[in-house]
Formats: sequence, C-alpha cells, structure tokens
Amino acid sequence: MSVSVRDYIRTIVDFPKDGILFRDVTTLFADARGFRMAVDQLLHPYAGQRIDKVVGLEARGFILGGAVAHQLGTGFVPVRKKGKLPGTTIAQDYTLEYGEAVVEVHDDALAPGQRVLLVDDLLATGGTAEAGIRLIERLGAEVVGCAFVVDLPDLGGRKRLEALGMDVHALCD
Ligand code: PRP
Ligand code: ADE
Repeated sequence: MSVSVRDYIRTIVDFPKDGILFRDVTTLFADARGFRMAVDQLLHPYAGQRIDKVVGLEARGFILGGAVAHQLGTGFVPVRKKGKLPGTTIAQDYTLEYGEAVVEVHDDALAPGQRVLLVDDLLATGGTAEAGIRLIERLGAEVVGCAFVVDLPDLGGRKRLEALGMDVHALCD
C-alpha cells in the first residue's frame, strides 16, 4: 500500500491539556518525502489559479505556507499572535479548542483585490482560520481557498468555514 500524508502524523494524548488528542505534524515536517508530499498536495487544487499571496497562520502554518508560497511563486504573509509583528497591525479575537487569543496582520501586507490562499496545519473549531479570513477580508483581499493538512471534522471547522463561503481543502481527517 502506498504511503500517505496521514502516515507521517503522530498523536500525542493529553497535550496540551487532559482530553486533547494532539495531532503532531512535526514528524511529517521532519520527513523529506512526507513534507514534499504535503506541500505538493496542499497547493495542487490552486496551481492553475491566480494566487497573489499565501497567508500562513502561526506557527505551523508558517512552515507549510512558506513552502507553498515558494512553490507557487508568490509572496508570503504571516498572521501572528498578538504583539509579535513590528509594524502597524489590525487585530482579530478568536476562540480555540483550548483557550482564547488575538491574531494580527500588518495593515499593509495585502492590497484590495489580491487573491489569497490561506494555509495552516490543522483545522479544528475553525476559530483561528476564521480570524485569519476576517483579517484578509478587512484588508480588501479575497480568500480563494483554505488549505490544511488535517481536518478534525467533529470540531466543526470545515462547516464553519464553508458557511462563510470558503473553499476548504484538507489532506486528511
Ligand atoms: C493550532 C493549529 C491551528 C489551530 C486550529 O494552533 O495549528 O492554527 O490550532 O484550531 P482551531 O481550528 O480550533 O482554531 P495553535 O493555536 O495551537 O498555535 P501554534 O501553531 O502557535 O502552536
Ligand atoms: N489545534 C487545535 N486542536 C488541535 C489538535 N487536536 N491537535 C493539534 N493541533 C490542534
């Protein structure tokens, strides 16, 4: 049987809190074949489309998003946790599976009309991705797709993003 992206992801029980099954993609990133497979599959549906920027969500979305941007020949824009970006930012609150947070983007990182691919490692409740989408749209850009390595369907993120009209692409669930 051929190897798939799923085979490179391990599960850590009770991290970062009791009851959480943490899907750990560091083992995927560490394997040359696995990492290349993941990056190629993430961008595959969008390869024929006009994409102006890839936006990656902190922190694991930076690793994947940077590689996807390189492969698509686009720039990369980070959405970071509050207080990390040095320039003028706009901020968005969101709720996580295990907490609350604020993310930010530089207010000059995207221009109106630009077509954006959003990339992250994992879709759980969709709160992080929705916050990223809202930041992108507040800057006047358009989200062409949201690409994830893992979708945790029981947590409802895909439905939440699809209800916003998003194209959701995940490599495994
Ligand atoms: C994880 C993951 C996604 C988010 C998904 O990041 O990388 O960004 O949670 O959860 P959600 O769909 O419920 O919002 P985390 O917040 O753990 O941050 P990190 O990548 O900086 O560790
Ligand atoms: N982010 C939110 N939920 C997660 C999970 N179960 N595994 C890895 N990252 C996550």
